[in-house]
Amino acid sequence: MKRSLRLPFSFLILVAVFSVLSFRAAVQDSRRRVRRPEVAPPANATLLRLAAVESGEAELRKDVDDLLDGTFPSGHRGVAGWRLRTHLDWRQENHLEVLRRNEPRFPHRLRGPKDYRALPDFRRPLRDWFRRRRFHPGVMSELVELIKRPIDRHHGRPDTKTERYGSCAVVGNSGILLNNDHGGLIDGHDLVIRLNNARVSGYNHKVGSKTGLSFVNSNILHLCARRPGCFCHPYGETVPIVMYICQPVHFLDYAVCNSSHKAPLLITDVRFDMLCARIVKYYSLKTFVDTTGKPPGEWTKVHDEKMFHYSSGMQAVMLALGICDQVSVFGFGKSAEAKHHYHTNQKAELDLHDYEAEYALYRDLVEQPQVIPFLKDFGFKVPPVVFYH
Ligand SMILES: *[C@@H]1O[C@H](CO)[C@@H](O)[C@H](O)[C@H]1NC(C)=O
Ligand SMILES: *[C@@H]1O[C@H](CO)[C@@H](O)[C@H](O)[C@H]1NC(C)=O
Repeated sequence: MKRSLRLPFSFLILVAVFSVLSFRAAVQDSRRRVRRPEVAPPANATLLRLAAVESGEAELRKDVDDLLDGTFPSGHRGVAGWRLRTHLDWRQENHLEVLRRNEPRFPHRLRGPKDYRALPDFRRPLRDWFRRRRFHPGVMSELVELIKRPIDRHHGRPDTKTERYGSCAVVGNSGILLNNDHGGLIDGHDLVIRLNNARVSGYNHKVGSKTGLSFVNSNILHLCARRPGCFCHPYGETVPIVMYICQPVHFLDYAVCNSSHKAPLLITDVRFDMLCARIVKYYSLKTFVDTTGKPPGEWTKVHDEKMFHYSSGMQAVMLALGICDQVSVFGFGKSAEAKHHYHTNQKAELDLHDYEAEYALYRDLVEQPQVIPFLKDFGFKVPPVVFYH
């Protein structure tokens, strides 16, 4: 090589070596950057411990024992936790103005114990439910078997190839739904889940018209059970209902309604209920500490531990995580201009729920699901979630 070329040539080699090295460093760095979120910091042990406190277990046990013995609560006694609700709370929470209008006149009282004792079939599900009570986050991976399978069988699809629904829309009831015409988008999902029998007629442009699964709490069913034929299926008699049990006495209503509903009337697994409760309580404690700077032990000063509970919407989202490959969420959240519910004139939120805590959970679901406690423990993978506002 000519001497005059030697210098520029070695310079070129130097540049090449440097580029290769810095490229590798960049790749490694970007890999690290992609991988970093997987290594989530462990959830705060103090908050986990406090979230695990279950108050009202003794009262719950007594309630269940009484029911199994045939002793029925005559009103709303001081039973455990969030089950202590007044009838008014139920009506408000479940926006039953809508139902009430069409409701035939029925005595306001619960049916007499004699009616219920005549029902042969409520003790077994109650006993089974109570026996299953234990904390087991692995239940997330059983939801396909517990919820989707029975629905598939009902639709005559015993051997579905795909384990989960491809795409699901969970439609909440917030007034923000009136801000957009998401009806077509919602109906485009494989499964549309609606909450607490919210009306769709008259709102189809906003909320869609299709319903594949109706998610309710048992307070709704309790009110339905007082009507002839247990009218609890505004979306059609062939739409499966999934319900969570708010209080054990509602197994009576379940016994009344299970025989009259054509599609499956499923009860959420109590282990799933307990998981949802613990996650929301964890987020409530965390939000409390983050926003007030106070020690987490003072959480009970602002939240009645026995009343505290997750919302139906939260559990419906959790359910969708378990049975869907992709989850879209509509009608969750609030804004100053929007109505509380799209289909009622209810004003205030009830303080049974900590919505701020649930919103914090939803943010993590979208942005960093790996930090949500319990879900990963049994290898459960959170599917992609999109919130439409
Ligand atoms: C967990 O949270 C508590 C209460 O906020 C705090 O005092 C403690 O330092 C936290 N622990 C860790 C390991 O971050
Ligand atoms: C509910 O009804 C279905 C269909 O009639 C029946 O197969 C099922 O066992 C009932 N569930 C309970 C818990 O009784």
